[in-house]
Amino acid sequence: MESLKLSVLCLVPSLLLAAVAVVTGDELSTFIVHVHPPENLALATADDRNAWYRSFLPEDGRLVHTYHHVASGFAARLTRRELDALSAMPGFVAAVPDQTYELHTTHTPQFLGLDAREAKRSYPDTERGAGVIIGVLDTGIFPSHPSFSGDGMPPPPARWKGRCDFNARRVCNNKLIGARSFISSSNATSNSLSNDWRAPPVDDAGHGTHTASTAAGAVVPGAEVLGQGRGVATGIAPRAHVAMYKVCTELGCATSDVLAGVDAAVADGCDIISMSLGGISTPFYQNTIAIGTFGAIEKGVFVTVSAGNSGPVASSVSNEAPWMLTVAASTMDRSIRSTVRLGNGLFFHGESLYQPDVSAPTVYPMVYAGASGKPYAEFCGNGSLDGLDVRGKIVLCEIGSEPGRLISRIMKGAVVRSAGGAGMILLNKFPQGYITLAEAHVLPASHVDYAAASAIMSYLNSTANPTAQILFQGTILGTSPAPSIVSFSSRGPSLQNPGILKPDITGPGVNVLAAWPFQVGPPTAFPLPGPTFNIISGTSMSVPHLSGVAALIKSKHPHWSPAAIKSAIMTTADVTDRAGNPNLNEQRLPADLFATGAGHVNPEKAADPGLVYDIAARDYIGYLCGLYNSQNVSVIARRPVDCSAETVIPESMLNYPSISVAFQQMWNWSTPVVVERTVKNVGKVPSVYYAAVDVFDDDVTVGVYPRELVFKQVGQEHSFEVIVWPKQNGASLVQGALRWVSDTHTVRSPISISFA
Ligand SMILES: *[C@@H]1O[C@H](CO)[C@@H](O)[C@H](O)[C@H]1NC(C)=O
Ligand SMILES: *[C@@H]1O[C@H](CO)[C@@H](O)[C@H](O)[C@H]1NC(C)=O
Ligand SMILES: *[C@@H]1O[C@H](CO)[C@@H](O)[C@H](O)[C@H]1NC(C)=O
Ligand SMILES: *[C@@H]1O[C@H](CO)[C@@H](O)[C@H](O)[C@H]1NC(C)=O
Ligand SMILES: *[C@@H]1O[C@H](CO)[C@@H](O)[C@H](O)[C@H]1NC(C)=O
Repeated sequence: MESLKLSVLCLVPSLLLAAVAVVTGDELSTFIVHVHPPENLALATADDRNAWYRSFLPEDGRLVHTYHHVASGFAARLTRRELDALSAMPGFVAAVPDQTYELHTTHTPQFLGLDAREAKRSYPDTERGAGVIIGVLDTGIFPSHPSFSGDGMPPPPARWKGRCDFNARRVCNNKLIGARSFISSSNATSNSLSNDWRAPPVDDAGHGTHTASTAAGAVVPGAEVLGQGRGVATGIAPRAHVAMYKVCTELGCATSDVLAGVDAAVADGCDIISMSLGGISTPFYQNTIAIGTFGAIEKGVFVTVSAGNSGPVASSVSNEAPWMLTVAASTMDRSIRSTVRLGNGLFFHGESLYQPDVSAPTVYPMVYAGASGKPYAEFCGNGSLDGLDVRGKIVLCEIGSEPGRLISRIMKGAVVRSAGGAGMILLNKFPQGYITLAEAHVLPASHVDYAAASAIMSYLNSTANPTAQILFQGTILGTSPAPSIVSFSSRGPSLQNPGILKPDITGPGVNVLAAWPFQVGPPTAFPLPGPTFNIISGTSMSVPHLSGVAALIKSKHPHWSPAAIKSAIMTTADVTDRAGNPNLNEQRLPADLFATGAGHVNPEKAADPGLVYDIAARDYIGYLCGLYNSQNVSVIARRPVDCSAETVIPESMLNYPSISVAFQQMWNWSTPVVVERTVKNVGKVPSVYYAAVDVFDDDVTVGVYPRELVFKQVGQEHSFEVIVWPKQNGASLVQGALRWVSDTHTVRSPISISFA
């Protein structure tokens, strides 16, 4: 489908803070409790386990979820006193308070090259994701949308064990093969769980319908939103099956519910878990997504997660564990243009999805919302325009919100409209740079970049009677630069593991068109014929693109491990944009590796990477022991781990497809860092690969040994060393790449070297 990004998780940095319940004395709140059965306790069946879990609790009504497959334990409502008593019981390992995570697709298949002849060879139309099940953890699904039609789909693979929990029969089909809800409202302040408990997995927000259709929606001709973005809507893997696990509402996602969703998706037989949600960065042993997804990858399930919408500040990336594919967001080459023409004749291209049919656009007086001088009035929050005469005028509103009060961009337009404004110009501030969003505003509008915003403001300041008009130009394809990283896409370096480069990859996450449960735009535009779609933006939207690509690869290479699929995606990524220039960021400067990871996904090349960097689930244990103590690692591994008996490795030595070396201040500068990697041949034989290092900086020398790898068999492995020799007092950050080059393949790993 063309892609739009979901805004629930997007662009709202303040919402990314996980809400942790403050627990005093006797109030009940939800905890995720991790337990390991004592050795003398045999728990043969799920019922035995459940009975044992219940034995920890003062009464039955307290249990919220039980976990069996990716975590060992349960979620329950407890007072602090009860938790203290429970912690002393045999088998108790750890308890983590429930938190709230935030939620974080018709042109993108073409933009990703999936229509090209080579891609059709790699992934024939009838095979795109065939036999693969994508489990989407989100806000539920609108099942009757044509994007989830089962027409022409084969039945799900025999391993599928899931359920369809809609009240009516025959809601699910061979496309949408399962749908369950895990919303416990465990967050509720009352002692009883709310009525949402076990309600059908209906999507009343839109986010889940959008992400699920982006990953694996059926082919729907004639898609459009308010007349824009017209084309054939299709998921990236239109032959894959979808299972929805409702773990979020519009308000967010309780971690106890997310863990229950991951547990079920793994038990049901999903191959890929797609999660467009996340919270703040926390150590992995306290991070529910990290814990749950480790269980998933141990069972061979591929996991895609969002980097977050907290950029462009450094170290804002969430979902950092190395067993997940962490996805950034970038633009595509489509603009839904609405142009602002000022009274002085200057004009600026902006965007809006709502484009009313106006044959002769009118010139209106223009007014700045902040002119009243009221604090935060420039954000056009509800009430902020009181006392300012905006009737029949175009109102300038700034992107952003007051502290503690979220003001969405569409809400700003609604406020202007209800105050009698004729139109709205949405002004970027410096951090958003050149990126604009095409959204379903409720009045004539144009979202303009920071350069335009500055020029419009100086015109406004320079004249007594400023005027403007908004001209609608429709959908324009082939815009450049594309892709470029969007301002809100969260950035590395990773706080939890600076020795692993995060995010891993970028994909389309700006102005993505995909299925939606209801109509958008001003009510005057209703009713429109045909299925409903929406265009939204966020790392939430880039994630399902990568989940779809993972499904294409999994279908083609069913026996590849999650790490091998991830390696294929990363080592074949594009590092230049469509014009052949380096990928840019929101300021039109070259984007660094902390913004792009390995680069922009190239699905066609990922089908045939030549070599892969594989990682077995057990390899992560030695890596985790390098980060944490045995008790902490045991929580993630779901079994007692004694780190003194493990081969402990530093982070940079995990066999990751990218290389990150973080030098500490105390480093002995006469010693190099040696990073070992092993590659496995998954391409043709015989083949010879030569090393090339693209690190152009006098402050560091990077060597590779050996420089030549000869493969005579498929599956053959070779190890090599990357030797990083820094100079004292050099640059603080050096980034480049290692390439293994054969006559048919380039296997590229980004290298990031930082000095504390
Ligand atoms: C839980 O409660 C907090 C605080 O009231 C709220 O911010 C959050 O959105 C709630 N989470 C969910 C999943 O409803
Ligand atoms: C602004 O707030 C008032 C009072 O709460 C409400 O009636 C109105 O619908 C709000 N306006 C918008 C545009 O949301
Ligand atoms: C316009 O005027 C306002 C208030 O006088 C000032 O704060 C702002 O910097 C001016 N902007 C430009 C772009 O000249
Ligand atoms: C992790 O290790 C720290 C330091 O030893 C300890 O205080 C903490 O309780 C451990 N946490 C868990 C969840 O095991
Ligand atoms: C630094 O490393 C060099 C070479 O390995 C060694 O000879 C020297 O003793 C080390 N210096 C310190 C202070 O450890």
